[in-house]
Amino acid sequence: MSTPSTIAIDGPAASGKSTLGQMLAHHLGYLYFDTGVLYRALTYVALKGQLDLASGPSLANLAGTTLFTVLPPTVADGRQYTVIADGEDITWMLRSAQVERHVSQVSSHPRVREILQEQQRQIGHAGHVVMAGRDIGVVVMPDADLKIYLDASVEERAQRRTSELRDQGRAVEYAEVLNDLIRRDARDAQNTFRAADAVALSTEGRSPEQLVHDILYLTGMVEKSSG
Ligand code: DC
Repeated sequence: MSTPSTIAIDGPAASGKSTLGQMLAHHLGYLYFDTGVLYRALTYVALKGQLDLASGPSLANLAGTTLFTVLPPTVADGRQYTVIADGEDITWMLRSAQVERHVSQVSSHPRVREILQEQQRQIGHAGHVVMAGRDIGVVVMPDADLKIYLDASVEERAQRRTSELRDQGRAVEYAEVLNDLIRRDARDAQNTFRAADAVALSTEGRSPEQLVHDILYLTGMVEKSSG
């Protein structure tokens, strides 16, 4: 297999898509694009504007009229990227409990999805991209050169998310994170797809480095697998 130009990584919340996607993109010199950021950005802007989150048309209108820009980090404060909505830096708001709580509802509206998927497709068309999300291999880039579906038990994902949040200084309990993930999995299920031609990988007991190696090996980009 020649080096894939478009790589889709799908999987449930906290399955390690971001870490893996970033490492893979870095290794290949590609752009890493986390599509969840757009749904989160729209949720933040909608909450700020006190929109009715049950109203698909209002949210679709907001999605179509707000300019979202995702840039490499503009401030050295631990962020992985900078997200601007109509000129406002909203990067840190995207991980707030409020956004976490409402993003599944916002992303459930079909017209909202179509608008954001079209923006994602334009980024994908440029190639040399690793794009992570829920529906990339099936809906956004069905012709991606390489599709990966990443999964792990909800308990392992909850462990990972708990450590991430604690690293950010947030006092969270494992049980609370686990319950949030179970609820989120249920709400996201209808928009999470595993492409028939995706390589399925489990993060259970594999480090991100080992997973990157697995992928490079599977696609013939390196000769031997380790670990
Ligand atoms: O990956 P994440 O947790 O940042 O995603 C935030 C939310 O956005 C999640 O609840 C599901 C939704 N999402 C989606 O529906 N489709 C995508 N391609 C990416 C995210």
